[in-house]
Amino acid sequence: MKSGKFHGIGIGPGDPDLITIKAVKILEKVDIVIAPFSKNQSIAYKIVSPYIKGQVVKLRFPMIRDKRVLEGFWENNTRQIKAMLDEGKDVAFITLGDPMIYSTYIYIFNRLKDYDRETVPGIPSFCAAAAKLGISIAEGDDPFVVVPTSDEKIIDKALEDFDNVILMKVSRNFNLIAHKLKEKGFKTGFVSRCCHENEEIHYDLDNLKNQKVDYLSLVIGKKAKQ
Ligand SMILES: C[S@@+](CC[C@H](N)C(=O)[O-])C[C@H]1O[C@@H](n2cnc3c(N)ncnc32)[C@H](O)[C@@H]1O
Repeated sequence: MKSGKFHGIGIGPGDPDLITIKAVKILEKVDIVIAPFSKNQSIAYKIVSPYIKGQVVKLRFPMIRDKRVLEGFWENNTRQIKAMLDEGKDVAFITLGDPMIYSTYIYIFNRLKDYDRETVPGIPSFCAAAAKLGISIAEGDDPFVVVPTSDEKIIDKALEDFDNVILMKVSRNFNLIAHKLKEKGFKTGFVSRCCHENEEIHYDLDNLKNQKVDYLSLVIGKKAKQ
């Protein structure tokens, strides 16, 4: 029997209208949609549920740092997806924003090299956030950098070398990031849960000092031109 096709679907930042027509067409026609979740509910599933016609299978991908444990989940979840594909089922794996940016999807995609696979891009969270904030990511010939903020040295280097920075995964060390941006003279924009019901926008990061920052949050920083 011919194996089914594996589709990675970028579903954009959170607004069901910010999904490509191609993504919707695939979600409407596949046999199975894989909805990844870490604790109990799949945020991605909530966004695209109106478009899904087939079966939904929720697979757990915990948000932990232990690489060995994570690999166990990736292996086990890939095994389940392979079984579906081997039965001839077409499968779509939904993922927030764009699938090729800091997404668990990449670890599954890489394990399915022997299968027919296609990735459908999605609007990245930082593009949606820039639109909401009314701040350009970069202008003219200016470069910009995207930084996940777990390593302080990488943050420092980015703030030293670039005038346009996008800081992702900021919830863990938000106060430190806010302090560094201010110290270096960056203008800032913060968006939490961009395009979701309880979206929050701030330009002054001091408004958030010592508050719990949601995991789905990012900061765009721009050094004021002299
Ligand atoms: C694992 S990465 C996934 C990135 C995603 N693939 C993308 O293209 O935007 C998760 C980080 O993306 C950012 N993020 C994702 N969705 C977001 C949203 N709706 N609002 C604000 N930040 C978001 C946050 O910085 C979060 O910690």
